[in-house]
Amino acid sequence: MDFKKEVVELIGGQVDLPQEKITALIERPKNAKLGDYAFPCFVLAKTLHKNPVEIAKNIADQLSSEDFSEIKAVGPYVNFAINHQKLIAETLTMVLRYGQHYGDQTLGKGNVPIDMSSPNIAKPMSMGHLRSTVIGNSIAKTLAKVGYTPIKINYIGDYGTQFGKLIAAYKHWGNEEDVKKDPIMNLFHYYVKFHEEAEKDPTLDDEGRAWFKKLEDGDPEAVKLWQWFRDVSLVDFKRIYDELGISFDSYKGEAFFNDKMQPVIDELKEKGLLHESRGAQVVDMGEGENPAMIVKSDGTSIYLTRDLAAAIYRMKTYHFVKMLYVVGNEQAQHFVELKTVLKKMGYAWADDIYHVPFGLITQGGKKLSTRKGNVVFLDQVLRDAVSLAQKQIEQKNPDLADQKQVAHDVGVGAVIFHDLKNDRTDNFDFDLEEVVRFEGDTGPYVQYTNARAQSVLRKAAKLKQQAKTKAISLTDDWAFAVAKDLADFPEIVARASEKFEPSVIAKYSLDLAKKFNKYYANVKILTVDEQIGDRLALVQATSIVLTESLRLLGVNAPKEM
Ligand code: ARG
Repeated sequence: MDFKKEVVELIGGQVDLPQEKITALIERPKNAKLGDYAFPCFVLAKTLHKNPVEIAKNIADQLSSEDFSEIKAVGPYVNFAINHQKLIAETLTMVLRYGQHYGDQTLGKGNVPIDMSSPNIAKPMSMGHLRSTVIGNSIAKTLAKVGYTPIKINYIGDYGTQFGKLIAAYKHWGNEEDVKKDPIMNLFHYYVKFHEEAEKDPTLDDEGRAWFKKLEDGDPEAVKLWQWFRDVSLVDFKRIYDELGISFDSYKGEAFFNDKMQPVIDELKEKGLLHESRGAQVVDMGEGENPAMIVKSDGTSIYLTRDLAAAIYRMKTYHFVKMLYVVGNEQAQHFVELKTVLKKMGYAWADDIYHVPFGLITQGGKKLSTRKGNVVFLDQVLRDAVSLAQKQIEQKNPDLADQKQVAHDVGVGAVIFHDLKNDRTDNFDFDLEEVVRFEGDTGPYVQYTNARAQSVLRKAAKLKQQAKTKAISLTDDWAFAVAKDLADFPEIVARASEKFEPSVIAKYSLDLAKKFNKYYANVKILTVDEQIGDRLALVQATSIVLTESLRLLGVNAPKEM
C-alpha cells in the first residue's frame, strides 16, 4: 500500500498539475499530530487567483478516502492523516506474504561490475580496503534486490615497479620459510627494509629497477617469485574475506592488463588525443586542468592507462549498464581523468561509470600509513571483536548452542555495521573500543533486537500460538510506529540503491529496532487473548525486515544470542 501515491492521485484529481510535480511538492508535516503528508498550495495561487489558504480549504472539502482518517486544510496546506489501522493491516500482510522478498523491486536490470576491495599484494590490507570491501558488498546485495546483476571485481594491485624492489629485497634478506609462515607480514617487512637501506645505499634502487625490467621481460626467476608473492598474498586476503563472508566474481588484477594497454595507447594516438609533454605522453583535460599522463617519460605505463584498458575490457566482457568503483575519496581526480579520457575516445558509456568514494579513517587524528608503521591490522580487529562477543555470550547466555558461530556473527557484524552506519563519505577516527561496543547504535543491537523477536515467536509456539497472516487488526501507537517503518522499507531499499549508500539501510535498521523495542516494552505480546495472533504478526514481520536489512549490509542475523 503506497499512501503517498494515493495522496498524489487524490490531489491530482483536484488540481491541474502533473503527477511528478505533485510528488515533488508533498511534504511531511514537522508535527506528526498534524498528519502524515502535506500538500502545499502556494504554487496554485497564481493560476487560480486565490490565496493558498482558501485553495487548501477548497481541495480538502472535496476529498475523502478510506485510507486516510482525516484530510483537512491546515493553513495553506492540505494535510492527510493515514488510517493507522489500515496501514498496519496492509503492511503486515504484505511483509508476511513476501517474506525475505518483501522490498524486492525492478529499478533496472543488466550487469553492474563493482570494482571493490582491490588491496595490493605483499602489503597488509588497509582499513580503506576494508571499507571498500564492505561498502561494495552491501551495494552489490542492494543492487541485486532492485533487479541488477552485480559483478564483484577484485582489481588486485599486483603489478608495478615496487615488485622489482620486493624481489631485490627478498633476494637480500628473504627466506622461504618465513614467507610461508606469515606471507604478507614478512614480505612487507622486506619491502620496508628495502626502503630504509636504499636511503643509505642508492644502488639498491638500481637493483630494484633491474628486477622490474626482468619481470617485464618475462625472466623466469622474476616471474616465479612474483607469482609466488601473489599467490601467498591472496591466501592471506582470502582468510579475511572468509571471515567477512564476502566473495568475488573476478580477481583480474592490474597485471592481467599488461598486454592490453598498448592497444589503448595506439587507439589514443589514432584518435589524435595523445601528445607529448616533457617527454611523457598525455591527454589534455581541458582549460586550466593538468593533463592526464598516459605513458611516463621513461616509457613505463601508469595506473590510469591500466584502468583505461580494464574499463574497455569490462565493457566488452560484461556489456554493463553501470560500472562502480568503490575507492577512497583521495582517488577522486583519477576517476575524473578515467571518465574524461574514455569520453574523449568517443565512449558514451563513460557516463555510466560512477566513482563511489568514501571517507578517510584516521587513528588518533592521524592518517594511517603502512609505510610509517601506523597501521591497523584487520585480522586483529576481527579477532578482538569476536572474542569480545564470545565473552558476552558466556556471561549472558552460557547455554546457547552454536556459541562459536554466534560469537563470530556478532563480532564480525559489529565491525561491518560500524563501517556502514555513517554516510560513506564521512571521515572517522578508528577506535577499537568503539568498534566492538555492543550497546547503542551498533550492529549487535539490531541483531539482539531480532533475536528478541525470534525468542518471542519461540515462546508463542510453546503456547501453541502463531502469527495471523490475514485480517490483522492492531490500533495502538507503538504498533503503528513499527508498521510505518516496515511500510517504508521498499523506499529505503530504493534510496540506498540509487545513492549507492548502505548507511541508509543501517540507519533504518537501527530506527526499526528502536521502535520495536518500544513496542516490546509497552505491550504484553504473549498474553493469550484474541489479539495475540495480530501482535505476533507484527513481531514476525519485524524480524523478517530486520533480518533482510542486515543481510543487505552483509551481516548475519542469529536467531538466538
Ligand atoms: N589497489 C588500489 C589501491 O590500493 C585500488 C584500486 C582501485 N581500483 C581501480 N580500478 N583503480 O589504492
